[in-house]
Amino acid sequence: MSAYDPAHLTGKTESVKRARLAILVGSKGRGSNMRALAGACRSGQIPADVAVVVSPVSESQAVDAAHEMDLAIQVARPKDPDYATALLTALAQANVDIVCLAGLMTKLPVEVLQAYPGRILNIHPALLPKFGGKGMYGHHVHEAVIAAGEAESGCSVHVVTEEYDEGPVVLQESCPVVPGDTAETLATRVLALEHQVYPRAVRLVIERMGDGS
Ligand code: GRF
Repeated sequence: MSAYDPAHLTGKTESVKRARLAILVGSKGRGSNMRALAGACRSGQIPADVAVVVSPVSESQAVDAAHEMDLAIQVARPKDPDYATALLTALAQANVDIVCLAGLMTKLPVEVLQAYPGRILNIHPALLPKFGGKGMYGHHVHEAVIAAGEAESGCSVHVVTEEYDEGPVVLQESCPVVPGDTAETLATRVLALEHQVYPRAVRLVIERMGDGS
């Protein structure tokens, strides 16, 4: 083998079975984390394919983005009485290994959590366990971080459990809170970080699955 061998350098990724991801976007989501994850799959950063995008609504910025990227889309509405079955069916039909929440604001039915134990991830725009829990979403998070006078914020990818933002953290990264920050300027800085961190976290989870750990 020569000193520079791309196959050797990427061997770890290629030895791991390609995973199938579902991305669950929110009704008002922009879909920017979905784009980051799908882009990372296509570039080879994550040894996975996006098997399905599930949206609570048929029209949104995230749905438009999924169409643009030629991703399969299913709609499952949280208010429907058969939501759990619809979601489980969409995930099973796409044969997914990992479910990534990217902007979904509603809790998942317990049947879905039980069907994918430890394999449902969420990204939260703060350094958990701080600034998490019910009501801590969107600008509320960044306003609370600024009001608390924190010197840094960041994002956390965690395993989803029955309680909001309480599952084990897979990966988190910080960024500074700078003087004069508003919720908007901080949100922009954190979102850019999210797009780096979510793909790395998904890759870690796939590698651990490959190890049998
Ligand atoms: C992100 O800020 C994420 O932290 C939170 O929901 C937002 C989704 O944004 N869970 P986008 O739709 O991925 O742009």
